[in-house]
Amino acid sequence: MSSGQTVAVLGAYGHTGRFVVAELRERGFVPLLLGRDAGKLQALAASHPGLEHRVASADDPASLDRALTGAAAVINCAGPFASTAAPVIEAALRAGIPYVDVAAEIEANVDTFTRFADRARAAGVAVVPAMAFFGGLGDLLVTTAMGDWTAADEAHIAYGLSSWHPTAGTLAAGTVSRERRDGRRVRYAGGRLEYYVAQRDLPTLEWDFPAPMGPRAVLGEFTMADVVTVPSHLSIPEVRTYMTTEAARDLAAPDTPAPAAGRSDGQLGRSAQTFTVDVIVRAGDTQRRVAAAGRDIYAISAPLAVEAVSRILDGQTRTSGVASAGEIFDAPDFLRALSAHISLEPPHESRAPRFA
Ligand SMILES: NC(=O)c1ccc[n+]([C@@H]2O[C@H](COP(=O)([O-])OP(=O)(O)OC[C@H]3O[C@@H](n4cnc5c(N)ncnc54)[C@H](OP(=O)(O)O)[C@@H]3O)[C@@H](O)[C@H]2O)c1
Repeated sequence: MSSGQTVAVLGAYGHTGRFVVAELRERGFVPLLLGRDAGKLQALAASHPGLEHRVASADDPASLDRALTGAAAVINCAGPFASTAAPVIEAALRAGIPYVDVAAEIEANVDTFTRFADRARAAGVAVVPAMAFFGGLGDLLVTTAMGDWTAADEAHIAYGLSSWHPTAGTLAAGTVSRERRDGRRVRYAGGRLEYYVAQRDLPTLEWDFPAPMGPRAVLGEFTMADVVTVPSHLSIPEVRTYMTTEAARDLAAPDTPAPAAGRSDGQLGRSAQTFTVDVIVRAGDTQRRVAAAGRDIYAISAPLAVEAVSRILDGQTRTSGVASAGEIFDAPDFLRALSAHISLEPPHESRAPRFA
């Protein structure tokens, strides 16, 4: 059993990192608190008596080597990942330990696959990027919906978020991604990531989410990290993601507050935000659909990342090297293991309507 082992968390005092630390404790792991700011780290350590903390910055390889000494795995919650993923993966490879991150940045996730595939496979080290709400959950759902299909024509992942109060880390990641795209938009079409100059606003359409959410307006081509994770292992030439318009509006508005940081007793509470992720895959005139619902996209990223680490340390994996959640894990079984956090609409098959 993997519990009892030490798992390092970089960005431990960030909003997501705190959820990950709490989840690791809940699951019987020993979190090793890592961050670049000694003061913030000490403040976090004060609410977790007995846990070790070490100052480490993604910009300082020696600090990462010291920080990872004795850890069985590392979860990287320090974003933007354009700056942190590569140096922390390098440190994990030097230490010979698995690496899991929560990156939602499309380009940073592509970099992880392209830069580290060969070396991580040769080292036999698992590197799982985007092991979080965006990128990870959608990939697990698409893989589950596929069932015995090895290829499909299209995958559609609709995000029904009741609201979106973004963290500073989310906003910083968005800024970095926009800079890297140089004013262009990105989508996954024709079997590849396609950068294009927008001629119009994102299209709005209605998506019929499972009850209780029901029909909602969504933005099409609201491209999320699933366009990296899903095609990394499934033969699906069109992968499209959608976002409820109210959540997209929240994300863009300058006055949207950050999510509540936690309760005064040091325990973390989930925000009131609810989500439904509705996934449809289509092959010919048949579609398969599965959906998941829960609360708080940041909080849910913690059980996703910690379940991943637990499975890697227990050897419940299908491959090594860089791999997305859907490739490295048994996706339906992984989702069942999250039943305390996510309610699942079981997969079902029907005749496919035509998508625009
Ligand atoms: N895929 C998903 O669904 C998903 C879910 C949750 C989070 N995320 C991503 O995870 C990242 C963190 O999100 P958050 O909500 O936790 O944001 P946050 O509360 O702003 O925390 C960001 C953390 O990253 C640390 N950090 C940034 N650069 C660093 C560096 N060079 N070295 C060490 N630490 C560094 C920050 O430390 P300082 O305070 O010292 O700057 C802070 O601890 C974001 O990129 C977000 O998009 C993705």
